Amino acid sequence: MRFSALISAAALAAPLASALNPIAVSGRYFVDNVTGDPFWIKGVDYQPGGSADFEDGVDVLANTETCARDIYLLQQLGVNTIRVYAVDPTLDHDECMTMMASAGIYLILDVNTPIYSQSLNRDEPWTTYTETYLSHVFQVIEAFSGYNNTLGYFAGNEVINNSTSAEASPPYVKAVVRDMKQYISKHILRQIPVGYSAADDTRYRVSLPDYLECGPEDESIDFYGVNSYQWCGDQTYTSSGYDILVDAYLNFSVPMFLSEYGCNLVTPRTFQEVGTIFSNNFTSVFSGGLAYEFSQEDNAYGLVTIDSDGGASVMSDYTALSTRYAAVETSTLTTDTSSTARPTKCAATYANINGNTTLPTCQASSLLSAGLDSSYNRGRLISGAVLTTNYTIYDIDGNAIDNVTIAVTEDLAISDDTAIEQTDKTTPRSAGSSSGTSSRVASKTASSTASGSAASATASSAAEHAFAAGPLSLVAVVFGLFFL
Ligand SMILES: *[C@@H]1O[C@H](CO)[C@@H](O)[C@H](O)[C@H]1NC(C)=O
Ligand SMILES: *[C@@H]1O[C@H](CO)[C@@H](O)[C@H](O)[C@H]1NC(C)=O
Ligand SMILES: *[C@@H]1O[C@H](CO)[C@@H](O)[C@H](O)[C@H]1NC(C)=O
Ligand SMILES: *[C@@H]1O[C@H](CO)[C@@H](O)[C@H](O)[C@H]1NC(C)=O
Ligand SMILES: *[C@@H]1O[C@H](CO)[C@@H](O)[C@H](O)[C@H]1NC(C)=O
Ligand SMILES: *[C@@H]1O[C@H](CO)[C@@H](O)[C@H](O)[C@H]1NC(C)=O
Ligand SMILES: *[C@@H]1O[C@H](CO)[C@@H](O)[C@H](O)[C@H]1NC(C)=O
Ligand SMILES: *[C@@H]1O[C@H](CO)[C@@H](O)[C@H](O)[C@H]1NC(C)=O
Repeated sequence: MRFSALISAAALAAPLASALNPIAVSGRYFVDNVTGDPFWIKGVDYQPGGSADFEDGVDVLANTETCARDIYLLQQLGVNTIRVYAVDPTLDHDECMTMMASAGIYLILDVNTPIYSQSLNRDEPWTTYTETYLSHVFQVIEAFSGYNNTLGYFAGNEVINNSTSAEASPPYVKAVVRDMKQYISKHILRQIPVGYSAADDTRYRVSLPDYLECGPEDESIDFYGVNSYQWCGDQTYTSSGYDILVDAYLNFSVPMFLSEYGCNLVTPRTFQEVGTIFSNNFTSVFSGGLAYEFSQEDNAYGLVTIDSDGGASVMSDYTALSTRYAAVETSTLTTDTSSTARPTKCAATYANINGNTTLPTCQASSLLSAGLDSSYNRGRLISGAVLTTNYTIYDIDGNAIDNVTIAVTEDLAISDDTAIEQTDKTTPRSAGSSSGTSSRVASKTASSTASGSAASATASSAAEHAFAAGPLSLVAVVFGLFFL
C-alpha cells in the first residue's frame, strides 16, 4: 500500500532535528507544548493580493504553487510564524500547511473575511452576530484544527477602531471569543489558543485587553496582538515609545506580541526595531512580532514583489529583515515565571469602551453543542507534500535563483495513527483530496489567475465590516502617538 511504503522510506532516512510540536500558552508566554521551551514569534503577515480582495473559492493557503514559492522565501527569511487574514474553510489546505510544517513555520489565523456574514459589522455588531456568521467561524476552526502548526486563531482584527465601535463592539468581540473557546473545548482535540488583534489606540490600549482577558477562562482571550507602527527609521527603545508600550502591559497575564509592525514612513526599511523586539526589555511583555507584510501591495509594505506571471522578486526590505532575523539570539532571553494570574473577576467599568460583562447570548447554541455536521472536512498534515515551485524567484540583484526547494527541517511524524487521531471527531476527509501527484501540483493557469489578482490588489478595506489590515493601524498609531 502506497501509504506504508512512504512510512518505511521515511523510517530509513536520517533522523530529522525535531518533531513539530504544537505551541501552547503558559502564563504570559508561548511554549512548545511538549518540551516546554519558550517560543518567540519571528513572523511575517502573509496575505498576497491583500485582504480586501478576498473572495470565496480562492485563498492563499489553498494554492500549492504559490505556497511553495512563498514558503521557500519565508523559510529563507528566517520566520517561524505567519499570520493569514482570510481563508475559505471549504478548500483543501493540507499541501500548504504541510509545506509550512516541514519548514518549521506556524500559523496564526484570522477567522473572519470581508465577505458579508463572515465578519462583524463593527458599528452595529448585533446585525452580524448570527448563526450564519458563527457557522463560518466554527468551520475555520475545524478546517485548521488538525494541523500541529496551527498556533492560534484571531477572533477579530481592529474591530474596535473609533469611539463608535468602542461603544458597540467589545461585548460582541468577547462573545465571539467565548463561542470559539467553547467550541474548541467541546469539539477540537487540542486546546488551540484564541486571541484578538488590536489597533494600538492609546484611548483603549490598556482597557480593551483588560476587558478581554478578565472573567471565566472559557470567555477570555488566550493571547493579544498589538498592531504597532510606532518605530519609524532610526529610533531607540525610548524614542520609539516602545518603553511606554511595555510599561502599559506589564501586568497582563497572557502572551502578547506585535501582530503587525514595520512603519514605512522611512524607506527602505531597515527593521532596526527587531533588535529591541528580541531583547529582554521587550520580551518581558511581548513574545516577538509579525512584520507587515510579505507581498508588495498598493499600500507599499511589501518585502517581495509578485509579478503578473507569478514570478517573485525580493526587495531590499526582505534582505534587511532577513539579516535582522538571522541575528536574533533567543537563548539569552529570560522568562519571568512569576507571571500574573489570570484575573477571574472583571472590573465594573473599562475606560473608553463598552465593558459590559454580561455578554450577548450565543446565536448558535445548538451548533455549539452538537458541533458541525460530519460532512465537514478537517485538514491534516500529509505525506509527500510538494516542496518546489515552477515560478521563478529573483534575488536582490535580479538573478533567478536555481533549485528553489523548501528545506525539510521538521520530522512531521505522519502515520496512519495521526490520520485517525486527527479525524476522531469528524468524518475523515477523502484520501483523494490530499494524495496523488496530479492533484498536488496546481495548474499554472490557476496560479497565474491568483497572482493576477495580487497585482491588482487594493489597499482599501471593505468599508462596512470589521476587517482590515495595515494602513488603518498606521492611522491609529499616528493618532496614538499624538497622545504620548
Ligand atoms: C467611526 O467609524 C464609523 C465607520 O466605521 C463611522 O460611521 C462613525 O461615524 C465613526 N465614529 C466617529 C465618532 O467618528
Ligand atoms: C498541549 O498538550 C495537552 C496534553 O497533551 C493537551 O491537552 C493540550 O490540548 C495541548 N495544547 C495545545 C495548544 O496543543
Ligand atoms: C501593575 O501592578 C502593580 C502592582 O499591583 C501596580 O502598582 C501597577 O500600577 C500596575 N501597572 C499598570 C500599568 O497597571
Ligand atoms: C533597554 O532599556 C534600557 C533602559 O531604558 C535602554 O537603555 C536600552 O537601550 C534598552 N535596550 C534595547 C536593546 O533597546
Ligand atoms: C449588557 O449586555 C446585556 C446583554 O446584551 C444587556 O441585557 C444589558 O442591558 C447590558 N447592560 C448595560 C448596562 O448596557
Ligand atoms: C503533533 O504533535 C504531537 C505532540 O503533541 C506529536 O505526538 C505528533 O507526532 C505530532 N504530529 C505530527 C504530524 O507531527
Ligand atoms: C513543474 O515542474 C515539474 C518538473 O519539471 C513538472 O513535472 C510539473 O508538471 C510542473 N508543473 C507545472 C504546474 O507546470
Ligand atoms: C475603521 O474601520 C472602517 C472600516 O474598515 C474604516 O472605514 C474606518 O476608517 C476605520 N477607522 C479608523 C479610525 O481607522
